[in-house]
Amino acid sequence: MTFWLTDEQLMIQAMAREFARKVLAPTAMERDRTGQFPIENIKKMGELGFMGMMIPPEYGGEGADTVSYVLALAEVAYACASTAVVMSVQNSIVCESIYRYGTEHHKQQFLKPLASGSVLGAFALTEPHAGSDPVSQSTTAVRDGNHYVLNGTKRFITSGKSAGIVIVTAKTDESKKHEGISAFIVKKDTPGVIVGKPENKMGLCASDTTDLVFENCRVPVENRLGEEGDGFKIAMSCLDGGRIGIAAQSVGVAQAALDASVKYTKQRNQFGQLISKFQGIRWMIADMATEIEAARQLTLAAATRKDRGEKFTLQASMAKLYASEMVNRVTAKALQIHGGYGFIKDYSVERLYRDARVFTIYEGTSEIQRIVISNHILKDKRRF
Ligand code: CAA
Repeated sequence: MTFWLTDEQLMIQAMAREFARKVLAPTAMERDRTGQFPIENIKKMGELGFMGMMIPPEYGGEGADTVSYVLALAEVAYACASTAVVMSVQNSIVCESIYRYGTEHHKQQFLKPLASGSVLGAFALTEPHAGSDPVSQSTTAVRDGNHYVLNGTKRFITSGKSAGIVIVTAKTDESKKHEGISAFIVKKDTPGVIVGKPENKMGLCASDTTDLVFENCRVPVENRLGEEGDGFKIAMSCLDGGRIGIAAQSVGVAQAALDASVKYTKQRNQFGQLISKFQGIRWMIADMATEIEAARQLTLAAATRKDRGEKFTLQASMAKLYASEMVNRVTAKALQIHGGYGFIKDYSVERLYRDARVFTIYEGTSEIQRIVISNHILKDKRRF
């Protein structure tokens, strides 16, 4: 089903669908089993323009709008959610942060290779004791002449091992709470950057997630993103875009679960007929399809607001909350429809069910989205 999509948006969606189903889907199950990072596929996605979709061509990107990006991301997630999270972090948080807040030097030096997909990026905000509450982070950046010296540990960093460039937040002034946090662009080969062991995860097994430890890591002052103290707002504003990306991922995974279920119900016979004939199954299919469409419309609406230059924090959180909870309901129903087969790894719904689980957690839990949404609703004076 469509929204008000342009020919160009539909063309990008079709291209992403063809690539995802031909190249990513056939090996997704194998990647899930081995945990092999999809580096060759990521390179191909860079060549197709998927790694810096919303960045203008002069900085190595595709110059596409957010709507096209979410359509493409949903297609990639449909085929392989592990690959989709790498694409999402690269586009939504890493490239956007540098494009929106970086200097011309940052764009030439860091954004160009990121947007063209020749280098992967990571975003290091979360810490062992600072997840939902990033203001309580304890990584420090102490000015020393023309450098900042970074010390601290970042946790659950998507592409932590594979990334060549990392955006790192750190405290530059302990007394100032969120205004004491700054953001830095750090090359991974800088002395003092230590990559932790890859996490052994329940889902998204082919994306790498590690600690990143900074030990007296000297970062040039010119690599600071924005002014001193801008780091929290840079992170929050770029996470808004990230949350639309997680909503798109959720829609893609849910659609894959629905399509697998529909196919299965038309093949599986019980009590002398296809199980697609049973009302109990049909109602599940109807609810799944309706919820996916609702999430898709919320996602496209948030993306459209972003493309129009309007505020979209509220809509991004609503899309992320609804879509990420929806995909958990949908993949659970898909597994139920498959019965015992859904519980074994030969069937894709088993992987989709595990992959979806983190969507209500990363880039802001459902509880954080509810805080953001309720704050907006309660502050909106036009409602009274
Ligand atoms: N855009 C721009 N500015 C924003 C903003 C936004 N979306 N949200 C907040 N701000 C600004 C506020 O306007 C405020 O500015 P002023 O001082 O000028 O008034 C400032 O930031 C502080 O805002 P709050 O008082 O609302 O901040 P808070 O400490 O209460 O936190 C929160 C708000 C919503 C709970 C926030 O901390 C949050 O989103 N937490 C979740 C963190 C998160 O999503 N982590 C995900 C990790 S990244 C990840 O998962 C990536 C990956 O690898 C997959």
